[in-house]
Amino acid sequence: MQTKQISLLILGDKFITMSETAKIELEGKIYELPVIVGSENEKAIDISKLRDLTGYVTLDTGYKNTGATKSAITFLDGEEGILHYRGYPIEQLAEKASFIEVAYLLIYGDLPTQQELDDFEASIKKHTLVHEDMKQFFEAYPAQAHPMGVLSSMISSLSTFYPESLDPNRSQEKKNLTVHRLIAKLPTLAAWAYKNSMRHPFMYPRNEFDYCKNFLYMMFAMPTEDYKVDPVIVDALNKLLILHADHEQNCSTSTVRIVGSSQANLYSTVSAGISALWGPLHGGANQEVIEMLEQIHNDGGNVDKWVAKAKDKEDPFRLMGFGHRVYKNFDPRAKIIKKACDDVLEKLGVDDPLLDIAKKLEKVALEDEYFKARNLYPNVDFYSGIIYKAIGIPTEMFTVMFALGRLPGWIAQWKEMTENKEPIGRPRQIYVGKTSRDYVEISKR
Ligand code: CMC
Repeated sequence: MQTKQISLLILGDKFITMSETAKIELEGKIYELPVIVGSENEKAIDISKLRDLTGYVTLDTGYKNTGATKSAITFLDGEEGILHYRGYPIEQLAEKASFIEVAYLLIYGDLPTQQELDDFEASIKKHTLVHEDMKQFFEAYPAQAHPMGVLSSMISSLSTFYPESLDPNRSQEKKNLTVHRLIAKLPTLAAWAYKNSMRHPFMYPRNEFDYCKNFLYMMFAMPTEDYKVDPVIVDALNKLLILHADHEQNCSTSTVRIVGSSQANLYSTVSAGISALWGPLHGGANQEVIEMLEQIHNDGGNVDKWVAKAKDKEDPFRLMGFGHRVYKNFDPRAKIIKKACDDVLEKLGVDDPLLDIAKKLEKVALEDEYFKARNLYPNVDFYSGIIYKAIGIPTEMFTVMFALGRLPGWIAQWKEMTENKEPIGRPRQIYVGKTSRDYVEISKR
């Protein structure tokens, strides 16, 4: 990280470029603030000493302009539609790498050698089973329980089986063991959440299969049948997981960093990330997209009507799978996924009317002034649901699939945060409530 001497003189709402540091004028006094420039030239005014210097804090609801950390994991440029993991373009990783290789890259910083990859995979395979007692937990959930609720509870429950994970000062080797356990057990618990909802027997992991095939096996195999899966499906899943593997400081990742900053154990920290991901504005959008497309289809397929609803400020309806906090031109993941979606549907011979609706919706919205003016483009979730549906994943499991993909990113961000010894996350606020007043007896209110 280089610190470049650029500065801004901030006077009211006027920004004047000056040389060297940023200057802020408050109550007639000028304060100098350092400017930080990242390795991809992103610039930030470092306000970490602002309150000490001036007594002021900054206000930025939704953190739209706030850099919460310096990170070396993922770079994204929302204007140019660029996404890199540890410097590697997402397009190359999605095309050439395996998900487990990408997980290693995110967590440990570099692509693994063959030996490192073999060791990593072997260690993960050693931990794919979950404690038999956990099976009883599943039985207590109602059949209609949403698998995200089950998954977040199950992941948090892992901490009760591995109490050594509660010690934030345990050895690096033990921390690594927790990481490998999580990567190994999440697919088992996710697939079992689905099996449980069907009241079907759980399928135990098959360690001769790779990560994606093993997950599909635990989801779809039955003890009474030989299991065969089309490699097209395994490839599509591998790609989808890679595309979801990290996305810098999004809602669930920020949750993971902030929960982890209290030194809560990694299982509970990731469980919090799963809960944050569940919301329809974040990972839950992939389920919402398919439900929206079905709704439009069942309503006669009048795309214009639904686009008009999305534009109507009196109507709470939004086009799910459209818009993104940071991508303002296109989402590079959506580009890759759209192509993968066409390939998968063609290879599997699936003719899905929802895809036609999705294509129409995309065309109408992209040509519409409302969407153009607000830079609203299809995001990664717009097409992922169609692929998941084509490969037989039930709608309620879509966000679980997102969690499966995002896990290495959460772990990498947690690891970076703890290794950098970042302080506990604790934002400030501007209090706008009642000022001090005296308690009044209930009989006098
Ligand atoms: N349909 C209709 N209008 C929209 C949409 C949409 N999908 N998204 C944003 N807008 C409008 C919004 O009403 C606002 O209009 P105005 O300026 O007139 O008030 C403007 O665009 C800006 O929206 P915002 O809500 O201030 O933007 P944000 O950055 O806070 O929210 C978002 C980003 C992704 C939450 C939002 O675009 C959205 O709700 N999209 C639908 C849900 C979705 O697809 N989420 C998945 C995101 S990608 C997966 C992930 O990484 O989580």
